[in-house]
Amino acid sequence: MDVIEIFGGKPLKGKIRISGSKNSALPILASTLLTNSIVRLTNIPSLSDIFSMIDLLKSLNVKILKKKNSCYTFKSNKPKSLIAPYELVRKMRASFLILGPLLSRYGYAKVSLPGGCAIGTRPVDLHLDCLKKMGASFKIKNGYVHGSVKSKLKGTSINFKKKSVGATENLIMAATLAEGQTIIYNAAQEPEINDLCNFLIKIGAKIKGHGTEVITIDGVKKLNGGEFEVMPDRIEAGTFALSVLGCSGKLILSGVNTEIYKHLKNILRPISLLKLKKIDNKSFSIEKVKNGCLNLKITTKEYPGFPTDLQAQLTSALLKIKGLNEINEKIFENRFMHVSELRRMGAKIKKKGSKVEISGVKEIYGAQLMATDLRASSCLIIAGLMAKGKTIINRVYHLDRGYENIEKKLKACGAKINRIKK
Ligand code: EPZ
Repeated sequence: MDVIEIFGGKPLKGKIRISGSKNSALPILASTLLTNSIVRLTNIPSLSDIFSMIDLLKSLNVKILKKKNSCYTFKSNKPKSLIAPYELVRKMRASFLILGPLLSRYGYAKVSLPGGCAIGTRPVDLHLDCLKKMGASFKIKNGYVHGSVKSKLKGTSINFKKKSVGATENLIMAATLAEGQTIIYNAAQEPEINDLCNFLIKIGAKIKGHGTEVITIDGVKKLNGGEFEVMPDRIEAGTFALSVLGCSGKLILSGVNTEIYKHLKNILRPISLLKLKKIDNKSFSIEKVKNGCLNLKITTKEYPGFPTDLQAQLTSALLKIKGLNEINEKIFENRFMHVSELRRMGAKIKKKGSKVEISGVKEIYGAQLMATDLRASSCLIIAGLMAKGKTIINRVYHLDRGYENIEKKLKACGAKINRIKK
């Protein structure tokens, strides 16, 4: 098992190219099951979650006709079995996103229930309820969801009682081949959902209102092929932006888009020590322009609010900032596994229910750390970059799920960071 070794205390200066978005690529890959025409996807990041999804698709008779760097050409043929096995789904919850496409295209799916994970119980009730309203029926047996449809899914109106990225995505994919019109109210508005809709429209789906809370899908008989470039990863960009807050310096992030720039500018606005500056439509700079005190109260929210996927990274970045800062995690019930690891570095963090209160300290110190989940692992990297001395981060397989070559990208910006093969 690899470990990451960091000697901290150096500012970050340099240029980083942001990879394609994991959370856009995963639903788009799942949606290749909806068509038997050839689909060419570019800007697919090289991540273990992506490889897990591709393994799952291959088990469902999706062929990779060509693969060169981040470009893949797929063709989905009728699967011999419509099963997403436990050993694949337990590794990655997003495997559940094949449920909507399989039910809509083939009328049956047997998908292992994704277990909970380090950040929460991760239920799937919203996914099942909305598909039931379209005519699917489900039996849960031996840890598997058996879904079936008598003939075709039927379009209907669905009003989500709470916003869910994955349930919105499963429903949109299912509705593209359903009979009639589906209207989704209280749809999640994350940009990755927008990207999925833009891909589906490219291959012939009839979708309106994506990016808003009301999305309308008119079912079609079949979908075609096409080519699509996956959007850049806004959480990777946000992670590097927050590493500048923690380490000082200046980074230029390229391969991004204006929407990501505006989103990060908006959510980081309360952090007066940082300055974001647009360079062109695909790049912007982020610089720590001054030291000083902060007294933030930040709550994680659905898009366009402060993303839960940046909560741990913000916690680290604030550890040495003078003042008292509070972060309220309102999306997941247990997304503070990183706090105990940060305390071992000398961080002063109080946990009170769904909130953490960070009192800035003069110094934090390198230590042996254990990554617990994907975003916690990037938070530990930021803490290691800020700390005095050596930090070793274990279980970096969590990191490899969502960050492409992060140590190489940081090393090119002056960080003393290495991956040690064990
Ligand atoms: C997506 O997960 C992302 N994953 C997560 O990113 C992200 O943290 C999350 O959205 C929130 O933005 C992918 O896109 C692959 P949800 P998802 O359904 O779809 C509850 C990362 O680090 N809920 O929007 O699983 C749920 O428990 C990952 O890249 C139900 O109650 O998230 C949570 O409290 C981590 N019932 C809230 O809704 C359901 O049926 C939001 O979950 C589904 C969800």
